[in-house]
Amino acid sequence: MQGITKNDLIIRIGGEGGEGVISVGDFITQACARAGLDVYTFKTFPAEIKGGYAMYQVRTSTEHLYNQGDTFDVLCAFNGDAYDKNRAFLKPGTAIVYDSPGDFTPDIPPGVYAYPIPMTQASKEMGNPRAKNMVAMGALSVLFNISVESLREVLTTKFARKGEAVVKGNLDALERGRELASALKKTDPWTIGTPKSKRDVIVMSGNNAIGLGALIAGLDFFSAYPITPATEVAIYVAKHLPKRGGTLIQAEDEIASISQVVGASYAGKKAMTSTSGPGLSLMSEMLGMAFMSELPCVVVDVQRGGPSTGLPTKHEQSDLFLAIHGAHGDAGRIVLSVENVQDCIDLTVVAFNLAEKYQCPVLLLSDGSLASSTQNVPYPNPDKYVLVERKRWNGEGEYQRYKLTDDGISPMADPGTPGGIHIATGLEHNENGLPSYTSANHEAMQAKRFRKLEGVVNDVAPVEVDGEGAADIGVIAWGSTIGVVREALQRLRVEGYKVKGFYPKLLHPLPVQQFEDFGATCKRLLLPEVNFQGQLAHIVRAETSLRPQSYTICGGMPFTPEMIVNKVREVLA
Ligand code: COA
Repeated sequence: MQGITKNDLIIRIGGEGGEGVISVGDFITQACARAGLDVYTFKTFPAEIKGGYAMYQVRTSTEHLYNQGDTFDVLCAFNGDAYDKNRAFLKPGTAIVYDSPGDFTPDIPPGVYAYPIPMTQASKEMGNPRAKNMVAMGALSVLFNISVESLREVLTTKFARKGEAVVKGNLDALERGRELASALKKTDPWTIGTPKSKRDVIVMSGNNAIGLGALIAGLDFFSAYPITPATEVAIYVAKHLPKRGGTLIQAEDEIASISQVVGASYAGKKAMTSTSGPGLSLMSEMLGMAFMSELPCVVVDVQRGGPSTGLPTKHEQSDLFLAIHGAHGDAGRIVLSVENVQDCIDLTVVAFNLAEKYQCPVLLLSDGSLASSTQNVPYPNPDKYVLVERKRWNGEGEYQRYKLTDDGISPMADPGTPGGIHIATGLEHNENGLPSYTSANHEAMQAKRFRKLEGVVNDVAPVEVDGEGAADIGVIAWGSTIGVVREALQRLRVEGYKVKGFYPKLLHPLPVQQFEDFGATCKRLLLPEVNFQGQLAHIVRAETSLRPQSYTICGGMPFTPEMIVNKVREVLA
């Protein structure tokens, strides 16, 4: 096994919140991306504000990465708690770098490469206990060939705001870690591959990418109430929106934030809010109002473990039922879901374009692992995006805000437009926006509002089919589960299985015909999703002739490729 250059290496760093675990992961990620490698990270925060187990996993490869991988190749344990939580994954062939002497004495399983590093002791000897994490990072850079130049650059940049002394102290700690590791004999085969070439990439989290997408789309107004794991969307927007004259409000709650967004839309502005499950529940009534009054708005839902307060910092894809049906009455909307960081940019622009064109709420579903996962994406070029504006009245003739039209879309008029005065109301109303209680009118207006949505499927990219021809099993996936399925299918094809993937991003209105066409080429269908009820599978069974087998987990973590591979083998056995 000596000296095998593993092109695809997964390092997991675990320790107590506050020990700087996240920084080590972030720095290694930035350093690998700068060197031209692909990176895909995944991290978990403790529910406690201080203390508790913090974990950061960085996968890096010379190949394109679709997910955070099965488990780790290298564990860096800052303390006994991190060791205990990950010991079960220390399979033969993996390596562990651990704090020794530390608060634990590991019983290293056979076949595991072990590297004791006095992280705590060395940093204390240097009079800088805070820098324990940098000692660890120095050791990792020597043991696994992580570019120390890039690490020094990133450290210096990221800690610059803390002052010269902090930067120097940590560079020294990094050096000390390198010395300590150099004194050890490397016995494992793991090392980071040499990238083909440097690339012009940016490493972003899913939440920051959604914020960037909104800005590219022309966001004017943003209101939100902080909630884990959605808050970073607001933080990103708060940093950049005011620079272009936009307005951001931190509302008193989610009812206020969605109401302000709908109001801003009535005023002619592109408006968005971001929230998580508990907040989306509170927004239901206003989603109905936005549908009834035909006001464009974008609502980002970064899903977390539910129901109720649930698991705030854990992963789940369990808000689909709420996203599609949340509101009384027949309240339509458009629902999109994102797979990765690139989608977080691109589909947020699509969400705004659809909201503007179809004058209705558009929900964009992200999830807990994608929220804080960071991936490298090509440097975004705003000029490559086509932006859609709402249809506005041309000022001629009598203005009817809700005029019945063939495609259901009626011209809007910003407040102050001469002759364009109108009421946007949640009451059922006639073509002039005035209250109407007749049966014929309600039938006609519901038909109008839903007729609009028939055009949506033609305005989004066709659903991606992964694979050709007939297949023994077709795997339908949505959200960040798609990235896991992509790799699983790659592995299954190498084993000779005839498998295909189907990756819808538009989940409502469902692209029914494309589902039917895909289903017709597969003997069986499997639909993995991280929720208890198999929500998309329910929707597919209700709206198409397909009967996919559900494969559901809800343990707060995402699927791994190995889980999908094993399930497909089991189903086909
Ligand atoms: N020298 C000096 N400063 C250092 C350092 C070093 N060697 N290593 C890290 N730091 C700083 C970081 O820059 C960061 O400072 P900042 O807050 O000014 O950015 C801080 O120490 C935390 O370090 P970091 O590596 O980012 O995080 P961590 O691994 O210590 O984990 C968290 C701490 C992230 C878990 C914790 O801060 C947190 O966020 N807790 C809340 C979790 C939560 O939100 N729960 C849900 C509630 S609903």
